[in-house]
Amino acid sequence: MTAMQPISIMDLPRIAEPGQRPTPTSGPLIDSFGRRLEDLRVSITDRCNFRCLYCMPEEGLPWIPNSGVMSTDEIVRVVGLLVKLGIKEVRLTGGEPTLRPGLPALIETLGALPGLESLSLTTNGFLLKQMAGDLAAAGLTRINVSLDTLVTEKFERITRRDALARVLEGLEEIEKYPAVHPIKVNAVAMRDFTEEEIISFAELARRKPYAVRFIEFMPLDAEGNWTNEQVLTGEEIRQVVHAWKPLVRIDNGDPSSTSRDYMFEDGIGQMGFINPVSEPFCSTCNRIRLTADGQLRTCLFSLEETSLLSSVRAGISDADLEQVIRGSVWRKELKHHINEGAYFVRPNRSMSQIGG
Ligand code: GTP
Ligand code: 5AD
Ligand code: SF4
Repeated sequence: MTAMQPISIMDLPRIAEPGQRPTPTSGPLIDSFGRRLEDLRVSITDRCNFRCLYCMPEEGLPWIPNSGVMSTDEIVRVVGLLVKLGIKEVRLTGGEPTLRPGLPALIETLGALPGLESLSLTTNGFLLKQMAGDLAAAGLTRINVSLDTLVTEKFERITRRDALARVLEGLEEIEKYPAVHPIKVNAVAMRDFTEEEIISFAELARRKPYAVRFIEFMPLDAEGNWTNEQVLTGEEIRQVVHAWKPLVRIDNGDPSSTSRDYMFEDGIGQMGFINPVSEPFCSTCNRIRLTADGQLRTCLFSLEETSLLSSVRAGISDADLEQVIRGSVWRKELKHHINEGAYFVRPNRSMSQIGG
């Protein structure tokens, strides 16, 4: 297997300054750097039943009032239009998406949108045991479950909830539904927290049919405590795993993937590394996001948003909404600036309010 060369940001000349050339009014959804947007992440609630240290304060956050959250009909209208415009993959996120009443019905409706190739969910797994059957029956095709530690006491420390056993049971339950595949386990890696468990996670990837992925800690914690020193890089972790049991790179065929994926040389198990801090993958980014209150965000670190919900509630036509979307997408940010010191400005929303 040959090593893949990441495309450098330097390879991405602007095809036009956003203001210089008119926004394309038809054709695929494209930004001014020529990136095609085909992946949509929709946050369906900003609420969460965990309080992960790297995401939310213990007391929670000021929640969006129910009246400000997109209704099911509004989600279906906006997502339906985006799919018509070329979005192929939709991921439902939160907060914690399983807290939204009627989630299976929403999955069923979105799953039926013509042109949609993949509908997935990112969850903390707390409600998975009881919801797995309904989610599978509704047509969920893939699932990612967050799990940052395999040690009960550490789990309670990081999530502020005593729920490790329950999340593991949820994972076991979803395994019973082969239509929901792959099952990915996401572990946010933090220095002085994760190192001692690297091999335990690698063993999990070998013992269970899960793609286990480590994610570098990003400055999106609500309390603003992130420091670069806390980032345990994916490459450091990969080397530890590789020294234990050799890993072989797999090309997952998706240049816009967040994750660099590997299998073990003996073919048992799969691992991935999501390295947005040490190895940014912005040049191949094909993602846009919709927050629970209907704001279109063209980057995880966007400082500006476009409110689609206020347009929808003001009675905008599909044709006009399409042009609002195209304009916002055209202005998509080149990249994040996490590694640029004072030049980096944190978005005023945290991960749970954006949707991950
Ligand atoms: P797959 O399509 O299954 O590979 O999922 P994913 O990695 O796109 O989604 P998931 O919800 O599992 O997110 C994993 C981690 O990647 C989370 O920490 C996300 O915030 C992060 N992530 C996802 N998309 C982006 C992105 O565009 N930029 C950055 N910097 N991080 C991202
Ligand atoms: N940095 C990196 N990943 C994070 N997540 C939440 N907050 C952060 C952060 N500050 C992860 C969650 C979930 C995914 C959507 O994002 O653990 O797996
Ligand atoms: Fe895409 Fe922004 Fe993430 Fe970069 S930081 S990969 S541009 S969403």
